[in-house]
Amino acid sequence: MIATVSAPANIAFLKYWGARDLHSATPLHASLSMTLETARATTTLEWREGDASPDDVQIIGGDGVPAPAPPSFALRVRTHLGRMRERCGRHGSFRVATSNNFPTGAGIASSAAGFAALAFGAARLWDVPADGGELSLMARLSGSGSAARSVAGGFVRWPADPSDPRGPAIPVAPADHWDLRDVIAIVDGSPKEHSSLEGHRLAPTSPHFSRRLQLIDGRRAEMERAIADRSFEALAPLVEEEAIELHLIAMSSRPPLFYWKPGTLRVLEAVRSMRARGLPAAATIDAGANVHVICEAAAGEEAAAELERLAEVAMLLRDRVGSGPRLEAGP
Ligand code: PMV
Repeated sequence: MIATVSAPANIAFLKYWGARDLHSATPLHASLSMTLETARATTTLEWREGDASPDDVQIIGGDGVPAPAPPSFALRVRTHLGRMRERCGRHGSFRVATSNNFPTGAGIASSAAGFAALAFGAARLWDVPADGGELSLMARLSGSGSAARSVAGGFVRWPADPSDPRGPAIPVAPADHWDLRDVIAIVDGSPKEHSSLEGHRLAPTSPHFSRRLQLIDGRRAEMERAIADRSFEALAPLVEEEAIELHLIAMSSRPPLFYWKPGTLRVLEAVRSMRARGLPAAATIDAGANVHVICEAAAGEEAAAELERLAEVAMLLRDRVGSGPRLEAGP
């Protein structure tokens, strides 16, 4: 049985940073993201029922040619597949070939897209009723919390019930609720030096972390209200405040983690000046140097044109709110 699926990356407005339990991606607080449409992982899964041979994991490079996955990535994928088999009571093995259409490990949620694709593909092949909740729990078995959000479209809260950290993600608004754009300014396409897992582990060592925990639920409620009202004016400062706070915590962890490059600051400055001139744009940054510029649809092209002129911006990706994973070929 074979299926090709694709799943999108997502950009967190409210960041998952710091875990109650890292291996099961159990967060210390809720997070909230916008699912993207264009930045996707495309994955072909072949399932061989009853076969006990180890799962075979391949990466498809830019030339379209599959090659064995690097050992650390193959291990994460095999661990995820093993946990999903156990959860769903299946016996057999997978052959997996996967590729991303955007830079990997550079703060564009490649693990979210990749593990959401594995969960969506396995659920299709096994005929698991893939309502949002089960799929989210399957994706999260990867240990990537953001993957739990990439299984749904639109604007997604994880966990659905902020007081139940083991729960799945749910959409708080569908993709067609608000046509937001994400212009991603790539200032450094190379993989980041510190994984987000390292960041989650160190977050509680920052003196600012406990204060964050006190404020975060109020901020989530405000963001959800801004999304419900489609109020960019209300959303923009909250999105930027969140991004800066994540990096403040990373930079003040012990040992400190620095994700920013000089180009990061240059883009932040440009976005502030756009907003001062009345352009509805706000910057956010995941664990990496690259900046996601969230805009209202009408402002997307003007923001992109301005970002393109910056010498520090090596490449721009244009994305928008999207509708979640999809079957590309197969059952
Ligand atoms: O899903 P993880 O374990 O890769 O962590 C994601 C961390 C951030 O991207 C920085 C924030 C988020 O909520 O997506």
